[in-house]
Amino acid sequence: MTDIDQSKGLTGRVLVFDSGMGGLTIARELMALVPDISVDYAADSGFFPYGDKSDAALQARLPMVAKALVDTVRPDVFVIACNTASTLALEAVRDVLDIPVVGTVPAIKPAVAQSQTGVIGLLATPGTIGRAYTARLIADFAAHVQVIMYGSVELVHLAEIQAAGGAIPLEAFRAAQAPLFEADGGAAIDTVVLACTHFPLVRGELAATVPHPVTFIDSGEAIARQTLRVLDASSVPCGAPPQVWLTSAPSAHHRLVEVCRRFGFSDARQLVIN
Ligand code: DGL
Repeated sequence: MTDIDQSKGLTGRVLVFDSGMGGLTIARELMALVPDISVDYAADSGFFPYGDKSDAALQARLPMVAKALVDTVRPDVFVIACNTASTLALEAVRDVLDIPVVGTVPAIKPAVAQSQTGVIGLLATPGTIGRAYTARLIADFAAHVQVIMYGSVELVHLAEIQAAGGAIPLEAFRAAQAPLFEADGGAAIDTVVLACTHFPLVRGELAATVPHPVTFIDSGEAIARQTLRVLDASSVPCGAPPQVWLTSAPSAHHRLVEVCRRFGFSDARQLVIN
């Protein structure tokens, strides 16, 4: 059952943004909730990955890229489908845009509600793991449970390759997430937050290589629902075909272009960022 009233005919235009392919996992939740919604996609391919960039570099980059994209695409809502970006620069991006901005942050609250053992894992990028925003989320919603965190940029790369059909051995996924479970208390983790939008792309591979059964949780559906709530208040009719915007030449990103196409976004073009 959905609590979104589709009879309202949501027809506004949403621009979903990430460093690479991860945001497609949010875009697909949006399109599953409201199949005829107008969604465009943008990847900051010229600055990928975000997970190991310095805060200063991302703080300088994100508002500039967001503004350039919104000025060009003219969406009704801008979705930062990236935990690494949202936990650092959501407010800075809001400050430069005159449309609603929806951010994506780790799904800690639902993970705490779901955990039986009181030990949850947080799998993210190193950037997200180190953020004050993430520490605040934990203090606000998970003070009474143990939260074990592990940040991996390698898993971001593995997800991009695997999503494009690359034959990565399962062992690589086992090794990439193993430190989470090898940490003190890790054997009791029963719920893992996939706090990077790339990771749901390889949920099956991660599930197949955990040392013991766990439940994986991500923010995808919650972000999609929040986007629709915001859109409801600000939408305007729009029948334009979906577009993909990259911040570097599409010809240099065959994998990304191909995976976007598979998710329903073709016709990739470049937005030159100065
Ligand atoms: N997809 C992004 C996230 O949710 C990060 C991937 C990257 O490191 O660029 O954090």
